[in-house]
Amino acid sequence: KLTADTRAAGTKVSPNLYGVFYEDINHAADGGLYAELVQNRSFEFNSTDEPSYTGLTAWSKAERGATAALTVSGEQPLNPNNRNHLRLEVTGGGTAGVVNAGFNRGLALKAGERYDLSLWARRDSAATLTVTAEAGTAVLGKASVRVKAGGWTKYRASFTASATTDAGRLVIQAPEGRTDLDMVSLFPRETYKGHGMRADLAKLIADLKPRFLRFPGGCVTNVGTYDPYSLNQDRRRIYQWKETIGPVEERPANFNFWGYNQSYGIGYHEYFQFAEDIGAEALPVLSVGVNGCGENRPLTDEAKLARWVQDTLDLIEYANGPVTSTWGKKRAEMGHPKPFGLEYIGLGNEEIYPEFFTNYPKFADAVRAKYPKIKIISNSGQTSQGAWFDRMWQFARDQKADLVDEHYYNNPDWFLANNHRYDTYDRSGPKVFVGEYASRGNVFSNALAEASFLTGVERNSDVIELASYAPLLANVDYVDWTPDLIWFDNDQAYGSPSYHVQRLFSRHVGDRVLPSSFTGEARPVEDIRGAVGLGSWRTQVRYDDVKVTAADGSVLLAEDFSAGAPGWTPGPGTWTAEDGAYTQSALVEDARSTAGSAGWSNYTIEVTARKTGGDEG
Ligand code: AHR
Repeated sequence: KLTADTRAAGTKVSPNLYGVFYEDINHAADGGLYAELVQNRSFEFNSTDEPSYTGLTAWSKAERGATAALTVSGEQPLNPNNRNHLRLEVTGGGTAGVVNAGFNRGLALKAGERYDLSLWARRDSAATLTVTAEAGTAVLGKASVRVKAGGWTKYRASFTASATTDAGRLVIQAPEGRTDLDMVSLFPRETYKGHGMRADLAKLIADLKPRFLRFPGGCVTNVGTYDPYSLNQDRRRIYQWKETIGPVEERPANFNFWGYNQSYGIGYHEYFQFAEDIGAEALPVLSVGVNGCGENRPLTDEAKLARWVQDTLDLIEYANGPVTSTWGKKRAEMGHPKPFGLEYIGLGNEEIYPEFFTNYPKFADAVRAKYPKIKIISNSGQTSQGAWFDRMWQFARDQKADLVDEHYYNNPDWFLANNHRYDTYDRSGPKVFVGEYASRGNVFSNALAEASFLTGVERNSDVIELASYAPLLANVDYVDWTPDLIWFDNDQAYGSPSYHVQRLFSRHVGDRVLPSSFTGEARPVEDIRGAVGLGSWRTQVRYDDVKVTAADGSVLLAEDFSAGAPGWTPGPGTWTAEDGAYTQSALVEDARSTAGSAGWSNYTIEVTARKTGGDEG
């Protein structure tokens, strides 16, 4: 029997309690939420970022009667942020060109839908380019682009797909001569509310009825170098919001923390717009000049730090300023004169370095002084960081932060045992933002444990103002991290069991939690655990030696990293072990490429490793 005291005042539930945390991890943006169908549209993939990349990643020749030579050129680029383009030389009389393979299996096209092509081209003589969308031997759509003689010009065309495919390709053919191409883009005309997000994925997110959208990360917000692309050749830069607004062809690409090229087609403006489109508050997280996620090169140069502080203030002006302000004007130029109504700002993400204590106040004080109504979110890192977590919390209290962002990725046992975690939290200090959490184990026990845990979150939502599961999105073919809430490939998407728990809680949130009691048979939680199986764990190690031996005894890889190696942390040297199975994609790729593609082979992998942290089980 369940009894609720309907006359009691109960606990007021935070109106913003359930939200989502979006990070560009697991290729969530390009090939995912961003509806762009062309991969590497600006030819900026680079082998210095990732050995398997070239400027022609996802591109190949289409020779149909003539010969095509493809090079990636930096000569007189489209603009200083878009440094490379494709140089196509056609010889032999007929036409020839390039093919883009798209993402996953290829381009996903739907019969009867309209597709919009745009590209920048440059030629010495006028010519007509033929653009086709193809699958197997069939042509599903066709358009022509008349290129005039002269410098870089943007061209547009469109077509309707005559059939449905998830394995299409885009072919561009040119006649004899040289054609320079850049920013080759193909979009479905139908995107979520017309703002460029893939409709099915955006709808799955919107269906959660999230009250806020935390973005853009996570580790992508604070790992890398601090200089903008214009000053620095380093392509692995911390997310800098100013690089991500304005015309897409002027946004530099980045090589993000999760080890892949990021186009910034979804940039800050698109995040704000998306938040508005799904009825959520935008909640940006910015770096305070201290890294997290296993790497630190703190920003101590005062002049550079001042630029970052100013960028933070400018972001608030971009979101909320009048159109007469410098940054409000830029927002208006992007098509949104009305302010976005930003209320929260996150300063930092999982910094485990003392420089945080020096840098954070510079940002927080500046925001407080200029925008006293903005709620400032400090962070405590992950619960697994033990004493450091407590120290970060104390610092946030001392700083009078409005909220503290807590993270935990623990096993289902932990979530079941922590239902009462917040019952005794101090009600007088900062509120809690559970900015990242997920149970890591069997998917069904995860969902059950999270549901149990959320009853505790809701019961304590006088002190917990915001909560978001993480990560949100994962492309099935490019996985950096599991579990994730929504899975997709190029034409399908579904929510995990945890997604349905989020949906249930978020769509049925009440105003107050009434005191209640239950009498009846209490079934021990252990019974459920026995049925679904538990026992996952997670840790991080650095490896000292790695040796891969094929079945015939030949050594495919023998690396001694004991003296340290470039890219150790957090690059290829960080291994994530889940359910006892180690995965390390770079290593597996090495083994495969050495062995050829003759089918399955046996390898013995010996690893000498040292644990470096993150032990949560
Ligand atoms: O959600 C995945 C990662 O977990 C985030 O990028 C980071 O903040 C945390 O360590």
